[in-house]
Parts: sequence; structure tokens; C-alpha cells
Amino acid sequence: MRAGGDVDYDSTGQGYATQRRPDPRIAAAIEAALGDAQTVVNVGAGAGSYEPAGRRLLAVEPSAVMRAQRPPGAAIAIHAYAEALPLDDGAVDAAMAVATVHQWADRTKGLAELRRVARGPVVVLAFDGPALGDWWLNDYAPELIAAEQRRYPDISQTAAALGSKVEVRVVPIPIDCTDGFTEAFYGRPERLLDPAVRRAQSSWGFVGPEVEPRFVARLSDDLDSGRWDERYGAWRRLPAYEGSVRLLVGWP
Ligand SMILES: C[S@@+](CC[C@H](N)C(=O)[O-])C[C@H]1O[C@@H](n2cnc3c(N)ncnc32)[C@H](O)[C@@H]1O
Repeated sequence: MRAGGDVDYDSTGQGYATQRRPDPRIAAAIEAALGDAQTVVNVGAGAGSYEPAGRRLLAVEPSAVMRAQRPPGAAIAIHAYAEALPLDDGAVDAAMAVATVHQWADRTKGLAELRRVARGPVVVLAFDGPALGDWWLNDYAPELIAAEQRRYPDISQTAAALGSKVEVRVVPIPIDCTDGFTEAFYGRPERLLDPAVRRAQSSWGFVGPEVEPRFVARLSDDLDSGRWDERYGAWRRLPAYEGSVRLLVGWP
């Protein structure tokens, strides 16, 4: 199996931890969803974003480049895959998976594994593809949005795999979100012109080579001319955006 599912994080994962810093408001939503769980497995753990403090945590991450970016003191990360968790049934109080399920080679198997190993909540942060149709990036890089929509699984299908009682919560994206996924820059378009920001967004690897330079040229021109602000300036003043981010919480 390739280390990073549909993305080769062993080749492209450098710099991820710098650009994709956990956002404290999103972290608080995850933390609340974990309830009073003392033992937690974080699957597709990457560089350790959103791992809650004060609990016993095991991280599962197949990419060595991602594991190497985990900060000193982070929980131990083992090389394993969601689809075959090396844990007994009900081994932990809770399981979590953040911004990762869309990359798994066999999502059905992986989600069943999360449910199998957790006695309590399974907490999944995922993206709702249809909701991505609502923001201005569609006018500059429709191919990118289409690629993301193709990758993101249906939220209700994901939810159905998480247990007999499941809640789907909208997670508002704060205007100063520190986690650099594309929608995080809904009110800060200039930031998307930074190549380092785009390198930490795997979707750019799913579009043709002409898309990124065309996007940069058009957005730069429109920002310079004031055209972007004329058409979309109101986005800069939205304190938070309810876009595609969803928190799914399932109980057995
Ligand atoms: C976008 S990163 C998210 C990392 C981290 N959860 C975060 O929020 O920053 C997705 C991670 O999923 C991992 N991944 C991909 N396929 C996987 C699989 N089948 N099982 C477990 N992890 C996987 C990748 O290696 C990558 O580190």
C-alpha cells in the first residue's frame, strides 16, 4: 500500500506541519466530541495535529515523512493503516481521524476498523464535497473544486459507518484559521498565491499542470486591479465561514 493513500506524502509531505498548524477552535470541537475518553487512537495522524493533550494517545500513520514531523513529546506513532488497525476489539475509549478518510484506499474497511477498536465515540473530521460549490474559488480554479469533490466521500455514507447513533456537526472555519486547507483562506485570498501554502494542499496534485499557473495569474491580476474585492470583498469581513468542514461523531 502506498504510504499516504491517494497522496504520496513520503514525496510531498515536507512542509506540511508548518502550513497545516492545528486551529484551536477546530481543536476544541474535536476535544469536546471525544468526551471523557482517556485512551484514544488517532488514525491518519500525520504530524500530530489535533491530538488532544491529557489523554493516552496512540497515533497510526503510514508515511515516514509525516511521522518525522511530529513534534518532540507527541504520542508515539506506529506505521500502520486504517484498513488493518493492529489493536484488539474495544481496545481504546475513542478513535479519531482528521482530514484523512478521503485518502484511504478502502474507506469501508477503515471506518469499520475505527468502530471495531473504539468502545466509545468515533470522531471523524471530513469535508462535504457539495458544500465546496459555494465559495469564490470556484470562479478561479473550478478544476480544483471538482477534484476535491471527486475525492470527498458522501458525508452520510461515512456517518452511517460510525455507529448506531451518529451526529454530523458543521464546523465553522474562523477567518484567521491556522490550518491551511483551501477554504481556510476564504477571506485571505492573497495567501493562496504563496506556493508553500498550495504545496500543503494535496488537491493541487489532482489537476492538470495548466490549472495552478492560470489560477495564480488570474487571482493576482484581480487582486491588483481591485476586481476581486469588488466582487468578493464581503468574504474578508465574514468572521467565520460555514463551508465544507464537518465533524462526525458516532457511538456504538
Ligand atoms: C491531510 S493528512 C492529515 C493529517 C492529520 N490528521 C492532520 O489533521 O493534520 C492525511 C494523512 O492521512 C494519512 N493516510 C493516508 N491513507 C491512510 C490510510 N489508509 N491509513 C491511515 N492513514 C492514512 C496520510 O499519510 C496523511 O498523513
